[in-house]
Amino acid sequence: AFEVELARSGKTLLVPADRSIVDVLGDVGIDVDVSCEEGICGTCETAVLDGIPDHRDSVLTEEEKAENDAMMLCVSRSCSPQLRLDL
Ligand code: FES
Repeated sequence: AFEVELARSGKTLLVPADRSIVDVLGDVGIDVDVSCEEGICGTCETAVLDGIPDHRDSVLTEEEKAENDAMMLCVSRSCSPQLRLDL
């Protein structure tokens, strides 16, 4: 599990191993736009302000993944205990 901090509201949410970030955001009424939900379309791309995503999508290039400033919320997770998102 890891936490996501939502920069605009200051909310912090716990993302358990068996749920996606998109699912957990839905619990608090934040509906991220999604399409494929498989990490291939790029619809759910979101800016990362802090933390290191565990990129599991096939949208970002290896260079983009290494920059750690954007991620696909439908499939990607976190390598760091917390991610700070521009939401
Ligand atoms: Fe398609 Fe996340 S919804 S990459």
